[in-house]
Amino acid sequence: GVMVTWEQLEGACRSCQKCPLWQTRTNVVTGVGNREAEVLFVGEGPGEQEDLRGDPFVGPAGQLLDKMLAAIGLDRKQVYIANVVKCRPPHNRDPLPEEQAACIHYLRAQTRLIRPKIIVCLGRIAAQAIIRPDFKITRERGIWEERKGFWLMATYHPSALLRDPSKKRDAWEDLKSLRRKMEELECI
Ligand code: URA
Ligand code: SF4
Repeated sequence: GVMVTWEQLEGACRSCQKCPLWQTRTNVVTGVGNREAEVLFVGEGPGEQEDLRGDPFVGPAGQLLDKMLAAIGLDRKQVYIANVVKCRPPHNRDPLPEEQAACIHYLRAQTRLIRPKIIVCLGRIAAQAIIRPDFKITRERGIWEERKGFWLMATYHPSALLRDPSKKRDAWEDLKSLRRKMEELECI
């Protein structure tokens, strides 16, 4: 492959024009965190603040994500955080299937470089891109599945928790489950 190093991966992302989202981006938001992380979090795509700053989850959803991590004794420097698409969809619309298809190989390259034990999908878009196209977030969140040596699980997107705080109780169960899985796999 052409993306066997971080430098190659980040260079390819920075100059990418593989889907129309490049035309409206300020920054490509490749990912952030520990390149040796045991846990990879995957969101859907950059929002406004992320596009302006070039880092994932730095807006309101990101602040909640930081709190969620802190609640199980983690901070964002221990984990790696990335998105399905690396450029902001206009007006924060869902990334289109063809945009996801054009971009997902960057996430695969990141996953090969990091080799995390656990991948947590944040929200439906990430779960459908990574776990299964017909994944139902309300019904299947919190359920672990082992695939190709990775443990996969999806929980609500922090933006969904901001819109509907009644989902926080389930999200908290998922976070505790993540913490237990990390202990089981001797990540912590
Ligand atoms: N929402 C996402 O899915 N990703 C981000 O980076 C920020 C908000
Ligand atoms: Fe390239 Fe992904 Fe940005 Fe589309 S979203 S231009 S595929 S980096």
